[in-house]
Amino acid sequence: MMFPVERPRRLRQTEVLRALVRETHVRVDQLIYPVFVRPGEGRREAITSMPGIYQWSVDTLCDHLEEVYGLGVRSFLFFGIPSHKDAGGSEAYSPDGIVQRALQAVRERLPQAVLIADLCLCEYTDHGHCGLLKGDSVDNDATIDVLARTAVVQARAGATVVAPSDMMDGRVAAIRKALDGAGFEQIPIMSYAAKYASGFYGPFREAAENTPSFGDRRAYQMDPANRREALKEVLLDLDEGADMVIVKPALPYLDVLADVKQRVTVPVAAYQVSGEFSMIRAASQMGWLDERRVVEEALLSIKRAGADMIITYFAPEVARWAQEPIVG
Ligand code: PBG
Repeated sequence: MMFPVERPRRLRQTEVLRALVRETHVRVDQLIYPVFVRPGEGRREAITSMPGIYQWSVDTLCDHLEEVYGLGVRSFLFFGIPSHKDAGGSEAYSPDGIVQRALQAVRERLPQAVLIADLCLCEYTDHGHCGLLKGDSVDNDATIDVLARTAVVQARAGATVVAPSDMMDGRVAAIRKALDGAGFEQIPIMSYAAKYASGFYGPFREAAENTPSFGDRRAYQMDPANRREALKEVLLDLDEGADMVIVKPALPYLDVLADVKQRVTVPVAAYQVSGEFSMIRAASQMGWLDERRVVEEALLSIKRAGADMIITYFAPEVARWAQEPIVG
């Protein structure tokens, strides 16, 4: 036989041919765009460490999301910056808390949108930890009561989905029970099941104003060294009734994402977190990376590893790029 028999380059000759045999695609309708909402009116506050991402007031957020929805991104993840923080995180479950008001307003403007409420206390506690404190540590069981109560308030305000991101043990079961008890048995739980204690959340601390006043989150979020433990967390959350699971961050944890995808039958999301966003944005602004190329490549790798959905601050850009005609 003549050498070489196999010539994989045959299928790479033109963009049309490459598109024909492409294995993985990023779909705009499977992107989730995270947003930050704060009190006030007519506000759009820049987040220095995340150029192009803002804290919105409810009115400007509605306009912004209407535009993004028009581009084809129809799922949004809500984070709130409350006017008042206290030890118990009470604005999280106040019926007129900031996220609840945003959910109501966006629900009215965009009745079909998927509104996902991030469910955690860290933005609402004055100490910045993800739950109630007992001494210097987070009291797991007291915290899940507050989370369950918050989930019901979020559902009542118009959330389509609740997404617990606190990493307390047993919270999915408690939230499911509370939602069902309040007549919200149709509200799905999207659990941040494998959430690592990551330095890549750095810029988010400025965006959501949730830096812990002491210590860090390593006593509840996962150790970056652990791979099998992610499956344990995911399987526990599924046992407790999670409808979808999230792996977070995304790019440094593609192995975990691939493991999870192989083992479960529920939809799997990956969260391309603030630090992943800012690294690409900053290097692109310096002219060191081509933003479109590397964003598309990073998102493809996350899909290839197994994500069905991707939570990404780049969602509006990706949607705009998808509207541009194919070249080549
Ligand atoms: C906390 C929460 C965090 C993120 C989402 N929810 C930060 C943290 O755990 O410290 C990070 C998201 C990002 O970095 O983009 N509930």
